[in-house]
Order: sequence, then structure tokens, then C-alpha cells
Amino acid sequence: MTTAGDIEARAARIPAREASVRFDAWPFVHPTMLAPMEGVTHPMFRALVAERGGVGVVCTEFVRVSRAPLSVAALEREVIKAPGVPLSVQVMGNEAEKMAEAAGVVAAAGADVVDVNLGCPMPRVVRKGVGAAMLKDPELLYDVLSQMRARVPGMLSAKIRAGFDDKSSVVAIAEVVEKAGADFIVVHPRRRADFYRGVADWRIVRVLKEALRIPVVGNGDVWYAADVLRMQRETGCDAVMLGRPALRNPWIFEQARDLARGEEPRDPSGEELLSFLVDVRRRYEETYARSVGKMKELVRYVGRTLNDDRAFMTEALRAPTTDEILAIAERHIAHLPSDALDLDAFGKLRLERSGSALVDDGGVSDRERASAA
Ligand SMILES: Cc1cc2nc3c(=O)[nH]c(=O)nc-3n(C[C@H](O)[C@H](O)[C@H](O)COP(=O)(O)O)c2cc1C
Repeated sequence: MTTAGDIEARAARIPAREASVRFDAWPFVHPTMLAPMEGVTHPMFRALVAERGGVGVVCTEFVRVSRAPLSVAALEREVIKAPGVPLSVQVMGNEAEKMAEAAGVVAAAGADVVDVNLGCPMPRVVRKGVGAAMLKDPELLYDVLSQMRARVPGMLSAKIRAGFDDKSSVVAIAEVVEKAGADFIVVHPRRRADFYRGVADWRIVRVLKEALRIPVVGNGDVWYAADVLRMQRETGCDAVMLGRPALRNPWIFEQARDLARGEEPRDPSGEELLSFLVDVRRRYEETYARSVGKMKELVRYVGRTLNDDRAFMTEALRAPTTDEILAIAERHIAHLPSDALDLDAFGKLRLERSGSALVDDGGVSDRERASAA
């Protein structure tokens, strides 16, 4: 078994590439990113988020790069950009040459950032030695990233977890990412062993920010727009990445932008939430053959903003058609005033538990939440 001490010692022996730090400040307009999410951050969803505004970069889900011959056309098809918002294309694999070739293809096809997945916790993925499994192999990680670096003239990034079984080698691993020449790093501060359990430990984001020279993006349990600013304040991170919270609250990026500008953020009503669902349904039906499944995926998150013991979600998830989902939404949501929904920038109903860098278990305390508001 590889110990954290062993990983640290091996990582420390890796030398830095020359000029491995090209940016020491966040290079995009907004300090926010839409996280890569398999099955979720397809072009239509990315376009929807980009249109609403306030997001700095949107990411594709991971594209698996295996030993099999690369399909250039398939890789190029991933590079679908939403107008006005930079696109990050994420690749996952451990064959350095193949990863470099794939990175070159997506960069040439217009990806603004090429990102490497070093965090996927799924057994089918780590069994193949990719995703979070690469956190245990600093030499391999360096080889893959530095060969990619040589082929990507634009931005290269890596998205890590806090470790595989143990958090204590996270700085050593992040330093390898920096030494290989990545332009920035994203950290989802849970170990692979945690999957999605517990609350993301924002203290790790702060530790990496103190240790590295490249920009650090914090991710994990940033459930409310005010938490975006609070994470930046508590950790010093350069930007914040949102995954599930952006599915749950479609207004979160614009709310965070408005808070940062000192403007009053929107506090959407049930009617606005329903109009959002109607709009999404129309777009899904125009784009995908099976839009019921995709609508239900959204219902699972949007439903979390209602304080109704999951009544809306339970009923909507049983509906056989999107027409029925919308009819159920009309009954449960349309009449709700904004006070009855947990969709505001500060989390007035506190239905979700956000992270914190100021408490031991990483979960936010009421005191900190109050000071964020
Ligand atoms: C449905 C789903 C799919 C995901 N797919 C990916 C992926 O393809 N690549 C990746 O790096 N992370 C993936 N993640 C992890 C997210 O990018 C993010 O790190 C995680 O959800 C924590 O952030 P959050 O609390 O903002 O959701 C996925 C997460 C979810 C919920």
C-alpha cells in the first residue's frame, strides 16, 4: 500500500519545469467556474448557464482517453462553446502520449482550457488507474501533465481531490501539478475515500493557496452565492467552482456577481422557478431524444430549494412525461413567494450545509453563516 509519506517523498524529488508558472492571478473575467459534471454539463446546460451571466468558465464532463486509437473527430465534437464564455474541456486518462495528443486536438479545436481529471472516485475509474487513482502516483502525474503542457499553447489545469485515502499528501501532489507547468489547479477538498460524504474541507483550499504560486480554485459545498465570497475570504482562493449548487439554483452565478459588485442579488419567486423549468424543458426537447430523464436530474436538485419534505421531488420523479413534471411543478411551485424558497443569495432557509475553512469538520457554523450574510 502507498502511504502519504511515500507519496510526499516521491513528489519532493520531482524537479520543476523551467518557467512552470505563467499566471499568478486569475486570468478570466469572473472568478467562478461551472464544474465538470458527467451527464449534466452537456452543451445545452453550459449554454443555459453562460446566458444567465456571472460565470467565468464552463467545463465539459470528462472525456475518457484510453489506450485505444484516438478519434480526433469525437474529441473535436466535445469543443462546443457557449458565446462569450471560455470553455474548459476535461480529459481523463493515464497514458501520457495519448493524453498529450488529445490535449493538442481539443486545444486546436478551440478549448480555452484543457483540464485533467484527477478526482473521479468511481470504482470503475480508479480500478483502471485513472481519475483519483493518479493522486497516488506523482511521477506518472508529472509525466502526463508535462507532456500535455508541451502540446497545449493555451491554459492547462488539473482538478484534484484532497487525496486518495489520506489528506496529508495534498500539498505535495499540488506542487507536482505546479511543477509540471499547469496554469491553475482546482481542488475539491474531499478524499477519494469520502466520495460525497461529509462536508468539503475548505481548510485544504487555504493550505494550497498558501503553498502554491499558480491560481487556486476552490470547489465543494458552496451552496449559496454568499458562500462564493466567503470561500474567497476564508481561503484566499482565486476563483470558486460550483457543481451541484448550480443545478440547484440556476441564479447562483449572477447572484455571486451581483454581491461582488455590491448590487442587490435576485431572490427568485416560485413563478420564476417555474418559468425556468418551462424554458429548460423546451430546450431539452429541441435537443435530446430522452428529455424526461434529463428533466428529472434537474428536479432532484431544484427540488432541494423547497421546504416541503421532498413532496414536489417525490411526485415529479414518478411522472412519466415532461408535461406531467411541469404540471406537478405548477401545483407545487408556481404560487410560492420567494420567502418560501431557499433560492436567495444567503440561504435564508438554510436547507444546505456549506463548507468552511474556519471550523474543524469543514462544515459551516451558524456564526460564520451569519457573518457571511
Ligand atoms: C453528477 C456529477 C457528475 C460529476 N462528473 C464529474 C466529471 O466528469 N469530472 C470531474 O472532475 N468531476 C465531476 N464531478 C464532481 C464535481 O465537478 C465537483 O467536484 C463536486 O460535485 C463537488 O462540487 P459541488 O459541491 O459544487 O457539487 C461530478 C459531480 C456530480 C454531482
